[in-house]
Amino acid sequence: MRRRALITGISGQDGSYLAEFLLEKRYEVHGIVRRSSTDGFQRIKHLEGEITLHQADLLDQQSLTRVIEQVRPQELYNLAAQSFVPTSWEQPLLTGEFTALGVARVLEAIRLVDPNIRFYQASSSEMFGKVLEEPQNEKTPFWPRSPYGVAKAYGHWITVNYRESYGLFACSGILFNHESPRRGLEFVTRKVTDGAARIKLGLEETLELGNLAAMRDWGFAGDYVQAMWMMLQQESPDDYVIATGEKHSVQQLVELAFERVGLDWQEYVEMDSQLVRPAEVQTLCGDARKAGQQLGWAPQVDFQKLIHMMVDADVARISHQIQVNESVGASTFF
Ligand code: NAP
Ligand code: GDD
Repeated sequence: MRRRALITGISGQDGSYLAEFLLEKRYEVHGIVRRSSTDGFQRIKHLEGEITLHQADLLDQQSLTRVIEQVRPQELYNLAAQSFVPTSWEQPLLTGEFTALGVARVLEAIRLVDPNIRFYQASSSEMFGKVLEEPQNEKTPFWPRSPYGVAKAYGHWITVNYRESYGLFACSGILFNHESPRRGLEFVTRKVTDGAARIKLGLEETLELGNLAAMRDWGFAGDYVQAMWMMLQQESPDDYVIATGEKHSVQQLVELAFERVGLDWQEYVEMDSQLVRPAEVQTLCGDARKAGQQLGWAPQVDFQKLIHMMVDADVARISHQIQVNESVGASTFF
């Protein structure tokens, strides 16, 4: 019998990579999506017919319980969240509802429907915030610096609490930033790779950025979804940091991306103080030794390879769109 997995947030970056990975492992893959008035789900279009989608929302307890009852998965990956940090200052309450209480709703549904379901929670290095040590590991105390980070800290602890209170097989993966050509355009890596490609192809003249000195530990999303699955295959549930152990500044990211398209970044990048956050996470760097030793996990794609992959994908995508527009005589590009 094929194992069944249910993924919340299947239409997001990680959801799409995890769905592909689980299909390769011969899982029956189900996903939760929100109803939309437009034809969305671009990241999982290519999986049509191979996965089953169900409508539910992290805000709606009944809808979550109903889908879990229908699917009866052996594994549930909770990837859905309001995941963009700046939006969490604009919509702190909604971020708390989705990103914090949403986790408790999924756990409650599991507890009531089938406490044997193995649960993965998408926790975040953003919880370390104003870091108290470097590199950060599973024992490093949290000091979140955004409503998003605070909400993720609740999600982490409620996962630990349901494990300790009810004996659920519940794991919290504390993942550091991970990126890909499917990354949302508002996150800094994709904003930079898309921006460099647009400037190279003559569609834009400048790129506005905020804090160039911020440092992150950036890995490849395709590597990180494997760690999620590995956590749920262990004998007992636990929490793991997933990271590359290397950090780079936003400026280094910009240099690398512009160099890839043969441009000098200093001629195009402008500072926009509006993009600086009310409270910044200045630096993050993870220590994933526990995941290495216990799960056998290691990242495969390094920083340079990741940024080159993203720039090349954006150049190819935009060039193709320009050609399509030219062939139909369209004068605007979007
Ligand atoms: P993403 O691309 O922003 O995807 C988020 C997903 O959540 C989307 O499928 C979105 O659906 C869904 N969603 C949002 N609100 C929902 C709601 N109320 N009900 C149901 N679904 C909802 O995020 P990602 O980069 O794949 O990240 C996956 C998870 O890992 C998130 O929880 C994120 O916070 C966490 N995380 C990410 C990173 C990273 O660097 N990528 C690092 C650590 C932790 P729509 O398509 O309808 O918007
Ligand atoms: N988005 C963005 N846009 N960030 C910028 C910009 C800009 O124009 N200019 C500088 N930055 C800096 C931010 O201030 C931040 O320090 C860094 O680039 C990374 O920003 P994001 O790519 O937006 O990611 P994040 O680190 O805030 O959050 C991501 O990683 C978390 C894990 O640490 C998200 O994926 C979260 O969902 C995830 O939990």
